[in-house]
Amino acid sequence: MGDKKFYSLPELPYAYNALEPYISEAQLRLHHDKHHAAYVNSANAILERLDKARQAGSDIDIKATLKELSFQAGGHVLHSLFWSNLFPASKTSKEPDGVLANALKNEFGSFERFKKEFSAAAAGTEGSGWAALAWCGLTQRPIIMQVEKHNVNVYPMFRILMVLDVWEHAYYLDYKNERPKFVEAFWNIVNWKEVSQRLEAITK
Ligand SMILES: [Fe+2]
Repeated sequence: MGDKKFYSLPELPYAYNALEPYISEAQLRLHHDKHHAAYVNSANAILERLDKARQAGSDIDIKATLKELSFQAGGHVLHSLFWSNLFPASKTSKEPDGVLANALKNEFGSFERFKKEFSAAAAGTEGSGWAALAWCGLTQRPIIMQVEKHNVNVYPMFRILMVLDVWEHAYYLDYKNERPKFVEAFWNIVNWKEVSQRLEAITK
């Protein structure tokens, strides 16, 4: 049991103030150091609980435990993807190019149309959740997911290329309850190079 792995909180690939003015340092610190860390710790606590129960041969509430693990692990994975698909505005482009740009144009007609649909998905996610751009390997199409919480409406086997966190904890310090303003700001700090590489890695 000693060699079992657990989740760990990744460091941000940029400074805490690097996404300003679109995401403030205070907002980013709170989001990464407190909220994301909490998902990591909670997911690990569940894994430990499962390990212990299995060792002891004791019963567990399987339904509640698996539901909770899906939520906490989903939160960890989505936040990890989120940090690395963001980048300082001065060092990133406003649009993708290459394979990703072509895939979006083929599916949505134009980059602007994709942006509009993704923004609407993000603004309209019910309660707490995410908008995600994913790739369907069966049809070779990009698809937008509107993820509720961290784990509802996720398609099995569809690889996620880009996510936008629209939980209030992601934007409340900077934008209060104005989620659409945060969604608009997001487009300035997308790491298109990373998103493109995620697509290239699964389609080559
Ligand atoms: Fe979050």
